[in-house]
Amino acid sequence: MTVKAIHGDLFTMVDDPALVGAAQSYIHIPDGTLVVESGHITAIGKRADIEPTLAASVEVIDHTGALITPGFIDTHIHFPQIDMIASYGEQLLDWLEDYTFPAEALYGDAVHAADAAEFFVRELLRNGTTSALVYGSVHAQSVDALFTAAHKRGMRMVAGKALMDRNVPKQVRDTAESGDKDSRMLADRWHGKGRLGYAVTPRFAPACSDEQLIRAGQMLKDYDGLLMHTHMSENVAEIKWVKDLYPDAKDYLDVYDRFGLLTSTSVFAHCIHLHGEEFQRLGEADAAIAYCPTSNLFLGSGLFNLGEAEKYGVKVGIGTDIGAGTSFSVLETIGEAYKVGQLRGQKLDAFKSFYLATLGGAKALNMESNVGTLEVGKEADFLVFDKTATPLLERRLKHCKTIEETLFVLSILGDDRAIRETWIAGERMHRRRPKSQLKG
Ligand code: GUN
Ligand code: ZN
Repeated sequence: MTVKAIHGDLFTMVDDPALVGAAQSYIHIPDGTLVVESGHITAIGKRADIEPTLAASVEVIDHTGALITPGFIDTHIHFPQIDMIASYGEQLLDWLEDYTFPAEALYGDAVHAADAAEFFVRELLRNGTTSALVYGSVHAQSVDALFTAAHKRGMRMVAGKALMDRNVPKQVRDTAESGDKDSRMLADRWHGKGRLGYAVTPRFAPACSDEQLIRAGQMLKDYDGLLMHTHMSENVAEIKWVKDLYPDAKDYLDVYDRFGLLTSTSVFAHCIHLHGEEFQRLGEADAAIAYCPTSNLFLGSGLFNLGEAEKYGVKVGIGTDIGAGTSFSVLETIGEAYKVGQLRGQKLDAFKSFYLATLGGAKALNMESNVGTLEVGKEADFLVFDKTATPLLERRLKHCKTIEETLFVLSILGDDRAIRETWIAGERMHRRRPKSQLKG
């Protein structure tokens, strides 16, 4: 396998700036070289130090001056919601009934699912997302299609079929027994195959019977290394519904906890309306939150309290939550997180944003020993940015004096256009078409 050396402006987060301070949280090598071999990073350093050590056979890729960072990690996204994204006017529960469940009902058709999976994975790569935790529909076919598309490209991806056996239309309903059987069949087929992993995926407490949640907890115990992926405390009407369904539960988190679903591999999307004790229990369990700012704004769900998550040491990653979220771009999504912080009186600096988008996300998905940073031994998933992607970006970035300012401007003005290349396991999987080929 060929060794490749990529020259560029290398930047990676290596720790949480809220814990260690900004200066200790990142590595920046402005004129650097990244060496990759057999899908992994084998060296990283100053170009002047690395270049003389390279054999003549090494393939050199010259991105001098271009920013290179780890790939983005999307900790919460729905694959079967690409055809109803941007649906008007409703908050969570009506939005699910009116738009979401009808769209997901079509994913029992393997041809439809395969076509959508190809689009979905290409869209992830175009936006610089190299790993994701993905909801399928209730149908096993949807997850087969998604894993097939991700596996073809060698992506580190985790997904699961949605478990939903009550309070949903029959076209998207399983049973406790069939949901369990399909989940185990999918995990047997895909979990640990290449870079893929399986997530036990209860839709949310109101859509799952006790029997279904008991089986979900059992499945987590029966396999090694599964994630648990669900929604929690997103919307006020949803929370009231959960309270009506479980009047003796202490709170929403307690409902999942009593079925064995609060673990160190659990990822809870949204968590907007938690109280301090719930954050504390999440932190103690080493569970994670997927913070989905565009979705939380679009559905009018509320403003996530990142400060509380930090206070209790809860792992947090960024979720685009397509199709309630409004962009596949994690870059654009951290820009929205900044604005939510402004509304909450919580400053979100660029180092923390990029931490959430990369290493924080990797930790949330328990994959930080594989991905999330540019370090020797990690899998070579990385991005090459285009600082001239738009006239405004090009103009504004010329005035940036520090890497922090550059990252911040990228997060506020950038989107898919700012991603020039996306690399998966040392192979270029996406290259943006040259501007001359673009219309307009
Ligand atoms: N809660 C249950 N299902 C969903 C979903 O598909 N999207 C969001 N945002 N919240 C949910
Ligand atoms: Zn969601």
